[in-house]
Amino acid sequence: MQVLHLLFLVLSVITTSQGSVPYQVFPLRLRSGSDGEKISGIDCLSWRLAVETHNLRNFGLVPSSCENYMAKYMLGGQYSADCFEAASAAYEYAKNLTLADDGKDIWIFDIDETALSSLPFYSSPDNAFGTKEYNDTSFKEWEKLGVAPALPAILDLYNKLLDLGFKIVFLSGKSESIRDIAEQNLKDVGYHTWEKLILKQTSEKGSTAVVYKSKKRTELVNEGYRILGNVGDQWSDLLGDNVGNRTFKVPDPLFYLP
Ligand SMILES: *[C@@H]1O[C@H](CO)[C@@H](O)[C@H](O)[C@H]1NC(C)=O
Ligand SMILES: *[C@@H]1O[C@H](CO)[C@@H](O)[C@H](O)[C@H]1NC(C)=O
Ligand SMILES: *[C@@H]1O[C@H](CO)[C@@H](O)[C@H](O)[C@H]1NC(C)=O
Repeated sequence: MQVLHLLFLVLSVITTSQGSVPYQVFPLRLRSGSDGEKISGIDCLSWRLAVETHNLRNFGLVPSSCENYMAKYMLGGQYSADCFEAASAAYEYAKNLTLADDGKDIWIFDIDETALSSLPFYSSPDNAFGTKEYNDTSFKEWEKLGVAPALPAILDLYNKLLDLGFKIVFLSGKSESIRDIAEQNLKDVGYHTWEKLILKQTSEKGSTAVVYKSKKRTELVNEGYRILGNVGDQWSDLLGDNVGNRTFKVPDPLFYLP
């Protein structure tokens, strides 16, 4: 009786394994994984993905071992390509919409690390791609120069949205006190028109970005605007109240703003 059982078991194992031929394990040895050698940069890619997907929140500094990786990511073409991918998805969505004639269909743009790039600051040795403590004094000094370049993918999206008939609203945590500099900087790099440019008042300084931006978007909706699209680099640009019919995130592994 026991022998018969064993025979039956062996037979069923054979038939089962024959039935599972399509699920052969790929025979090449991968270069990473539990028994592979460590490829430098692979952990930093996982870290960056966790940041982008919002699995990792409120991080303080970029891991110092990732400085080289971040430099390559930000300056080596991948960051730019990722931004173009986001902008392209936004345009594919936008061009399909039918706008009303009342000028109330708006697209919200964040400014820092979205319309404009602060990479000249973050790539300097003082910040070292987010691996060194952020120095607000030195950032504000740099910001006052008004020399931030445009993020090419976003400038391109901006022009296409204007052509489609969208009104543009810039919604930024930049201080109202530097309005003239911010406006000039935007114009200098090609953002020549907008419906509104909303900056943070002194009285709003204590609010987190998500609270401040929610409040401003709600005011826009109460004024009759329809927020059809919204693009930013921080999750706090895209979460909260009245975020818009669709949101688009450009990457930003350098810092986290709640
Ligand atoms: C655009 O609209 C068409 C027709 O309504 C639809 O089939 C298509 O999926 C839409 N494309 C996008 C990117 O939303
Ligand atoms: C921050 O930057 C300012 C201006 O560049 C500088 O004077 C100050 O020493 C810096 N602070 C730290 C902690 O590095
Ligand atoms: C945008 O969202 C609002 C509220 O959900 C909806 O009524 C409206 O039809 C949406 N507009 C478009 C163009 O999808």
